Amino acid sequence: MSEKLAGKRAIVTGGATGIGYGIAKRFIAEGAQVIITDIDAQGGTSAAQRLGDNCQFVHHDVSLASQWDGVFAYAEKHFGGLDIMVNVAGVTLMGTIEDLDLETWDKTMAINLRSCFLGCQGAIKLIKSNSAASAGGSIINMASVSAVKAKPELVAYNASKAGVDMMTKSVALHCAVSGYGINVNSINPGVIETDMLKKVISQVEDGDALMDSYRALHPIGRIGQPEDVAAMAVYLASDEASFVTGSAFTVDGALALN
Ligand SMILES: NC(=O)c1ccc[n+]([C@@H]2O[C@H](COP(=O)([O-])OP(=O)(O)OC[C@H]3O[C@@H](n4cnc5c(N)ncnc54)[C@H](O)[C@@H]3O)[C@@H](O)[C@H]2O)c1
Repeated sequence: MSEKLAGKRAIVTGGATGIGYGIAKRFIAEGAQVIITDIDAQGGTSAAQRLGDNCQFVHHDVSLASQWDGVFAYAEKHFGGLDIMVNVAGVTLMGTIEDLDLETWDKTMAINLRSCFLGCQGAIKLIKSNSAASAGGSIINMASVSAVKAKPELVAYNASKAGVDMMTKSVALHCAVSGYGINVNSINPGVIETDMLKKVISQVEDGDALMDSYRALHPIGRIGQPEDVAAMAVYLASDEASFVTGSAFTVDGALALN
């Protein structure tokens, strides 16, 4: 079977582990060259080593505007341009409207939402400068079913992910009417088995009960794996999705219908 992303150049934030790592792995298997970025320097370096010659790691805190220029400059220098931007890095910091402090709210917004704004802004600039032969591209922002399903203890996370979905639509419209050939979509995963899930489980008293309740939320009878999300990302990044822009793609074993 032919590679779906042959010759394409991608940046994946939060690529040291979890969904970002799963996407980078699948992209490389489909013929892409990938820069993974992450705040975790050790994890990112070892992930890039595991992923082989078509993967490079750049240390990067997505919440800091000052660090984005360096990532795009690296892509320009090493790849000569960019075709795919995947904004995956994110955190789940728990708290209700009554107990979440402002610092945690701001941190959640900076890592989950402002990062996507900065990633889209820089990616559009770089993709626009591609040669005519590789014009256009794809931007994918990682939201969550939490963009559409509220939980009392996820006040900041819910708001940040709903923001990602709606910001994605605005950016997609802008790119569409500007004739850039850049497709912009978001993915709303259900519960996916990653380090983030382990952290959430570790924050509560009865982790096993929470895990069982997460499984039960998915009518399909299981929680998801990074590969489930990566498969959607490959499609959205591929030329097959050229008429697909401005949408939020749910990958959740029917959780959102529950
Ligand atoms: N796991 C789930 O159940 C789930 C469900 C829906 C959506 N998501 C979303 O998918 C994305 C990835 O989640 P995951 O489960 O793979 O998480 P994870 O915690 O396993 O991995 C996230 C990665 O992002 C990195 N990161 C965190 N803060 C960063 C920062 N400021 N700058 C750069 N990198 C940073 C971490 O070091 C880590 O490598 C997140 O946006 C998350 O909200 C996850």
